[in-house]
Parts: sequence; C-alpha cells; structure tokens
Amino acid sequence: MSMMSRYAALVLLLFAAARGAAAITDGAAAGLLPNGNFEKGPSRSQLNGTQVIGRYAIPEWEITGFVEYIESGHKQGDMLLPVPEGVHAVRLGNEASIKQKLKVTKGMYYSITFCAARTCAQEERLNVSVTPDSGVLPMQTMYSSSGWDCYAWAFQALFPQVELVIHNPGVEEDPACGPLIDSVAIKTLYPPRLTNKNLLKNADFEEGPYILPNTTWGVLVPPNIEDDHSPLPSWMVESLKAVNYIDSAHFKVPQGKRAVELVGGKESALAQVVRTVVGRVYTLSFSVGDAGNACAGTMMVEAFAARSTVKVPYDSKGTGGFKRAVLRFTAEAERTRVVFLSTYYNTRTDGSLCGPVVDDVTLLSVRKPSRRLRLL
Ligand SMILES: *[C@@H]1O[C@H](CO)[C@@H](O)[C@H](O)[C@H]1NC(C)=O
Ligand SMILES: *[C@@H]1O[C@H](CO)[C@@H](O)[C@H](O)[C@H]1NC(C)=O
Ligand SMILES: *[C@@H]1O[C@H](CO)[C@@H](O)[C@H](O)[C@H]1NC(C)=O
Repeated sequence: MSMMSRYAALVLLLFAAARGAAAITDGAAAGLLPNGNFEKGPSRSQLNGTQVIGRYAIPEWEITGFVEYIESGHKQGDMLLPVPEGVHAVRLGNEASIKQKLKVTKGMYYSITFCAARTCAQEERLNVSVTPDSGVLPMQTMYSSSGWDCYAWAFQALFPQVELVIHNPGVEEDPACGPLIDSVAIKTLYPPRLTNKNLLKNADFEEGPYILPNTTWGVLVPPNIEDDHSPLPSWMVESLKAVNYIDSAHFKVPQGKRAVELVGGKESALAQVVRTVVGRVYTLSFSVGDAGNACAGTMMVEAFAARSTVKVPYDSKGTGGFKRAVLRFTAEAERTRVVFLSTYYNTRTDGSLCGPVVDDVTLLSVRKPSRRLRLL
C-alpha cells in the first residue's frame, strides 16, 4: 500500500468511527435502517463498473469482499430485476458481507426484515448475525413471482450497540453469482403476554416482523431450527420451509392487521407449546381462509394437538374470505404442542407458491359442569 492510500484508508476509518451507529429508540423502532434501501450509493470514484471499491463507500454501511452496487434495470442473465425499494440494491459475491452498527436497548428483542433475490445458483444462502446470534437463511425456494422475497430474522440485544452482518457464505465458481439485497429494516418485538381470554400467546399474530410498505408479497418467517428467537413471537416455524407473514394493507386478513399464510405445504409447520392439565379437555378454534392474492383452488389446513387432528378444507376463489374451525382434544401432558400445516402446495397461475391463511386462534379449556350442578 502506498503512503497516500494508507493515509486515505486512515481518514476513511476515522470518518467511519465518527459517524457512529444508527439509534433504534423504542417508540420509533420500526422502519428501514439508515440507508437501508441503498439509495445513497458510492461516488463514481468508488466504483469499478458495478464493483464497490472501499470499505465505507456505501453510506451507513461497511462492506467486505466483492460487493456490487446495482441499479434497477440491471440484467441478471436474461432476467431484468426490478428493485423492491427505490432503484438501487447491492449484490454480495462469494464471502462478501455488509454490516451496520445499531444502537439498541440491551435485553430487548428485535426483528430484522430484508429482501433478497437469488441470482444463479440453487444453493444460495445468507448468514444474518448479531453477535452472538446468527441464522443461515436458505434461499433455494422462491416464493414471490417478482424474484424478490423478504425474510425476517430476530435477535435479542445483549449490548447497547450491536453490529448487524449479512454475509454470503457461498463459494460459487461464477463471481457474478450471489444474492441481491435491498430494504433492510428493523422492528422492536414486544414479547406477548398471556391473557385470561386465551391459553395461546400472540394468537392473532399481531406481533411480528416489520412488513415493508412498498412490497406486496409479505415477509417469510424461516424455520427456526435451533432455539433461536422467533420473529413471530411465541410461535415456532418447524420443519424445512418458511411461512409467509402478511398484513391487511396488502392482503385479505381474517382478523386484525396481520395473519400467516402457510406457503410451505407439509414441509412447514407453525407451532406453539402451551401448558395444559393432563386429562382436561380443550378447544382450539381458528380461522382458515385465503389472502385474496389470486391463490385459488382447494386448500386444506391440518391442526394437531395431543392425539387429535382436524382437517379443514377451504375452497379458495383467491379473492379473500375465511371460515372458523374447531379442534377438540384431551391433554395428555403438562405441555401440549399445537400445530398448523397446509396439506397441499398451492400455487398461483404464474407458478408462484401460496397457501391458506391461518388467523385468530383461540385455545380454551372446556369447563366441566360442577358436581353439584350435575347432581341437580
Ligand atoms: C476494475 O475491474 C477490472 C476488471 O474486473 C480489473 O481488471 C481492474 O483491476 C479493476 N480496477 C481497480 C482499480 O480495482
Ligand atoms: C454465520 O455468521 C456468524 C457470525 O459471523 C458465525 O459465527 C457463524 O459461524 C456463521 N455460520 C455459518 C454457517 O457460516
Ligand atoms: C415507499 O415508497 C415511497 C415512494 O417511492 C417512498 O417515498 C417511501 O419512502 C417508501 N417507504 C418505505 C418505508 O420504504
């Protein structure tokens, strides 16, 4: 390194240190990160073609490895990719990463939402981390027809300042492969509490990850394989595939503002573990419907608890609507797993995956009439 470039690097470092971290204060903690849509880009001198030169060339971010700055209309093979937010995005080459420092509240839970588009390989993955949590999000299944899917991931802040890293662990032969990233957002998650009206927490799915207002395809909640923090508080996504978190601004939702679309067929299950009393009878009631997203055809939602199962058929016109269903079961343990899944893979006419919506779940214990009453 020459004297001059070493000096330049030092100046850049100092600038970066002075700039500090984005503050995520509690009340306003939902929205894009500073320059989370990458609309502020490198100067011409910090670009070689599309390749970003210099660690701090993208405002608010620090990059490592081969990162490209992409404008909307950029051709990826034969595919012309529109960008979900504004007109810019970044592409992470093999082992490349983007980082941003976040000021958070120690002990609080946060979910990160970002959108990604796969480029060439089938095996593309992204490793999202905030020390000491990390999660590898597989991208082999594409859900939306736009080419972009948005993903949610959650962490608990162990320090008042943390570093969010999105890393492409890939080692593809073609350096032009590697996912595109756009619209990185954050939201504070408030752990739901039990109420005396329901034995399930967050049973209406109102608490969940940030949904980008400018996207129309929801946010995928990937399976949380280990004992990670769920971006959909109190719920676990089990098995292999994600569920889609949707809102009433873009979809038909049975109740409230948010719901879950089961897009993974039998390969994904939405579950919650509840405390139960052995031998007691419970009723699980819930809504099954469609999101009004042109997902038409025969749908089926299966619900399980203890040894009981119910299969709820739903004939979707793709225009929205729902019905109520009930599963009655007798608890066999002090903890019971309540599970929902979609029996079928549903698709739209363009081939993209979709599925039935589940919402507004209630679990109640059935009160036995008291002995005295029965005697009467
Ligand atoms: C710009 O990219 C070309 C082709 O990839 C490479 O040969 C050249 O060394 C790069 N220039 C700089 C300044 O990195
Ligand atoms: C993901 O990133 C974290 C933090 O850098 C690292 O500890 C972890 O090993 C990575 N996981 C994989 C599978 O690469
Ligand atoms: C959504 O798009 C509008 C118009 O392009 C823009 O002004 C707004 O900032 C975007 N909102 C978010 C949260 O990205």
